[in-house]
Amino acid sequence: MEEFIVDSPQKMEKLGALLSEKLKGNEVIGLKGPLGAGKTTLVRGLVKALGLKENYQVRSPTFTLVNEYPTRKGKVLHVDLYRVRDFDYSELIGEGILVVEWEEDPKKCDIFVEIEVLDENTRRVRIHP
Ligand SMILES: Nc1ncnc2c1ncn2[C@@H]1O[C@H](COP(=O)(O)OP(=O)(O)OP(=O)(O)O)[C@@H](O)[C@H]1O
Ligand SMILES: [Mg+2]
Repeated sequence: MEEFIVDSPQKMEKLGALLSEKLKGNEVIGLKGPLGAGKTTLVRGLVKALGLKENYQVRSPTFTLVNEYPTRKGKVLHVDLYRVRDFDYSELIGEGILVVEWEEDPKKCDIFVEIEVLDENTRRVRIHP
């Protein structure tokens, strides 16, 4: 487990970039943390670091169940379970790097990221394993 104290959205994007370096291309990454913790911000940094193609933006998958971003390491699939807790994303596993906001079960994930809000701009991030 690695622990980071992150004191700005920019640094959260950098942590996403750091995490991206470890990826092979088919991991399931679970992101746990309250509303506004910075889950989407971390995903944005991760996807940008993998060379997101032009004209794509990383946004919260609120109206679509899955956002898909083409990158150098293949597709990144971005799922948010907030509105659809029982969405079964199992068929997406192996289709690319799969990032799941609001996944609370570390056993379903290769990498599990927990974000805790310490104050307005500060987060404690734990990355397992
Ligand atoms: N250290 C920090 N890390 C990340 N975000 C921060 C930090 N400090 C302030 N913020 C702000 O907190 C917000 C995080 O929003 P973001 O959409 O990334 O959260 P989220 O966890 O995806 O929320 P949701 O559960 O609604 O999807 C942004 O407005 C960002 O500017
Ligand atoms: Mg989000």
